[in-house]
Formats: sequence, C-alpha cells, structure tokens
Amino acid sequence: MAFFSRKKSINKEDILAKPLPKHIAIIMDGNGRWASKRGLPRVAGHRAGVESLKNIVQFCLDIKIPYLTVYAFSTENWKRPKEEVSTLMNLIIEYIQRELDILHRNGVRINPIGKIEDLPEKTLEYIINARNSTQENDKLVLNVALNYGGRTEITQAVSLICQKIKKGELTCEEINEELIGQFLYTHNQPDPDLMIRPSGEMRISNFLLWQLAYTEFWVTNVLWPDFKPQHLVDAIYDFQNRERRFGGLNFS
Ligand code: IPE
Ligand code: IPE
Ligand code: MG
Repeated sequence: MAFFSRKKSINKEDILAKPLPKHIAIIMDGNGRWASKRGLPRVAGHRAGVESLKNIVQFCLDIKIPYLTVYAFSTENWKRPKEEVSTLMNLIIEYIQRELDILHRNGVRINPIGKIEDLPEKTLEYIINARNSTQENDKLVLNVALNYGGRTEITQAVSLICQKIKKGELTCEEINEELIGQFLYTHNQPDPDLMIRPSGEMRISNFLLWQLAYTEFWVTNVLWPDFKPQHLVDAIYDFQNRERRFGGLNFS
C-alpha cells in the first residue's frame, strides 16, 4: 500500500541506490482467501503460496538481503482442520525435496525457528536435514518460522535463563536485553528492519514479538499467492523513504 503518489513505477535499480534492509520479515498470509476467491480448496492456496516464497527468496538473493524470516506455521495454526494441517506439513516436505539443492547451491542457510520438536516426525526429519546440510552457507539466512509463537519463544528464553541461574551459571544481575536476545531463536541476528504482511490484516499474530520492537511495518491487501518481487520492491522503497527515530528526535 503506497501512502504517497509516485510518478513512475519503482524498479530494482531505484532501491539498490539506497541502503537496503538487512533483515526482512514476512507473514505469508492470505492463502485461504486466494483459494476461496477462485472456488478452490484452501490447500490450493497454500500450494500457490509456496511459489511466492520461491520467487521472493530468489529475489532476496538477487538484491543481497542477508536475512529473511518467513512465518509459515504458528503455534495457533494447530486449531485448523486436521486435513489442512497435514497438507501444510506435507507441503513443507515437498518444498524441501524440490528446493533444497538449488537453495544450497545459491548459498541459502535454512534456519527453522519455532518449537520444531513438536512437528510430525517425518516433517521434522526433512527440516533437520535441510538445516544441517545448509548450515555453512552465508549468502542468505532464511529463518522459517514453523510452530512458531513469539510468546512461546520468550517463555522458553525465561525458562532457560532460570535453569542457568539455578545451576549457578548466571546471576539475576546479569539479566539484560542483550542476554534475553541470546536465548531467542534469532540470537546473533539483527532485528528485522522491515515487516511485511500481505492480505491486509493489521496485526502481529504472535510473530517475533521481541524482535519487532522498532521494525517498520508495511501492509498490503495483496494476498500472499499474488505477492510478487515488485511488491517487495515497493515495500523496500517505502521503507527507504521513512524516517526511523527509535524514540529519539530527528535533527536533520
Ligand atoms: C497463511 O494463509 C498460511 C498459514 C497460516 C499456514 P492463511 O491460511 O491464513 O490464509 P487466510 O488468512 O485464511 O486467507
Ligand atoms: C499468521 O497468519 C500465521 C502465518 C501466516 C503462518 P494467521 O492467518 O494464522 O493469523 P490470524 O489468525 O489471521 O491472526
Ligand atoms: Mg490467515
């Protein structure tokens, strides 16, 4: 959604002329609505959504974005019908089967984030293999949020810190924001600069609650299966024309 009028459409060269976000986070939303609009079952929307993911990962590699986090399955998505959940779990396997080689060759590190241990065994096997076989890659870190919940992530961090205190490996005085950050799935990564939500919803839906503290949000009514690299170009262009203040004042 552009909030100001433009004379011409923005292209890749325009955004490459200015500093790019280092970390982009995307809530891949709107698959079900995309399918319903076409009279198709919801799972057809999820399939179409995988194509968007492939194109966006490729585009991020192309413009050299170092970190991309995509929300694929939340801790709340288990509430959906069994068949939808199992199709999603199978789609993850299919995606890895079809894309792992090319992602690996392109230098993508696949980094699942979330309570992956609670995923079905076969899906987990593929995820662990994808993670292990790409861990040395350094062109793009692709965080895939699977069975991810921001509250669960923070709760786990608190619990791990408590265990360390109990064992005498940490003291309460050592707890600060940096320390908490080290116990999150995204430790050693910069916070997202830009968070994109397709499908028009204006909420976080339990995504990266800690990390999004000062992230710029960009929402579009476009549904995820219709989301193209041009939309990402538009989002980045808007981002580059915003003023980030981080609570301070603008002196320019
Ligand atoms: C996002 O699309 C995919 C997942 C949550 C797994 P949705 O399935 O939420 O699509 P809508 O929001 O119903 O259109
Ligand atoms: C968020 O979308 C989760 C993913 C895209 C994986 P939802 O569709 O689950 O979010 P709500 O229910 O609209 O908040
Ligand atoms: Mg949704």
